[in-house]
Amino acid sequence: MLFQATRSVARKAHSCRYFRCFSQKSAAPFKTETRFTLGELRKKYQSSKPITAVTAYDYPSAKQVDSAGIDVVLVGDSAAMVVHGHETTLPITLNDMITHTKAVKRAVQRAMVVSDLPFGSYEESTDYAVRSALMLIKEGLADAVKLEGAIEPRLRVVRAIKNAGIPVMGHVGLTPQSVNVLGGFKPQGQKAVDAMQLVEHAISLEDAGCFAIVIECVPEAVASAITRVINIPTIGIGAGQHTSGQILVYHDLLGLTEHPHHSNVAPKFCKQYAQLGMVARSALCSFKAEVENKIFPGAAFSPYTMQQDELQHFAEMLKRQGFEQIT
Ligand code: KIV
Repeated sequence: MLFQATRSVARKAHSCRYFRCFSQKSAAPFKTETRFTLGELRKKYQSSKPITAVTAYDYPSAKQVDSAGIDVVLVGDSAAMVVHGHETTLPITLNDMITHTKAVKRAVQRAMVVSDLPFGSYEESTDYAVRSALMLIKEGLADAVKLEGAIEPRLRVVRAIKNAGIPVMGHVGLTPQSVNVLGGFKPQGQKAVDAMQLVEHAISLEDAGCFAIVIECVPEAVASAITRVINIPTIGIGAGQHTSGQILVYHDLLGLTEHPHHSNVAPKFCKQYAQLGMVARSALCSFKAEVENKIFPGAAFSPYTMQQDELQHFAEMLKRQGFEQIT
């Protein structure tokens, strides 16, 4: 315990020196329309202001998230589940992630765009992992990448990607790409030894060079301890109140999955700030009913007209061809 406490204090002192240098260099006032860079993230973290993050996977969702002033847009591999309809995040490919990231980048003006390295794109070797990360940056135009796990060879991968000039976000706790090893989408760190291991994992990721860490589905006490021990921002999801920021999946936050087919999908830690799935369903049912009852489009939504003489001419041409008289 004493060792932990001493290390924690030493780490914090080191961090303060770093941030003092940093803030002297960037004296310009924070403007909301400026890009939310790594520098802005660090400033927000240092002044203990909560960091906001939401996933997005395409142009319209990214436009909405960015224009709401959310700091970080995560192009999550959760796209496999909420966009592509898979049961896990495992099937999504690097090419899929590049396509999603490109669309998101076209929409975003302010937020930092972090793109997930999907399962199968970074486990094989360090070189392969660096190549995958480079593709998310060069083709997808992401600002940073995220990967899951914190034991070797993952830490080597974090170091190598960072050394290639790419900021890396870590991810501990419930790491959905390991769902088959974990035995399901289950909360993590509920036993003291497991909780302590998560703290060690977070420290290792910080030491390897991560700029922030997502903590998913762990007790609040565990996320709180990690947040106090490390000197980089923690972004919680199902991890309680005491993290440096919070992230939710776009579809869960907006209640987009709240319709009869998907109603059991939204996780219980997720607050739904709207029930857009219900709104969409009701709108689609109204469209169907109006088309079937010949109410839509009607005169109000048939805006394109012809001059009377052109209409007359058209009717004559049709008649000459032997077609029926038009109304
Ligand atoms: O893919 C994703 O959406 C994520 C979040 C749950 C953090 O990794």
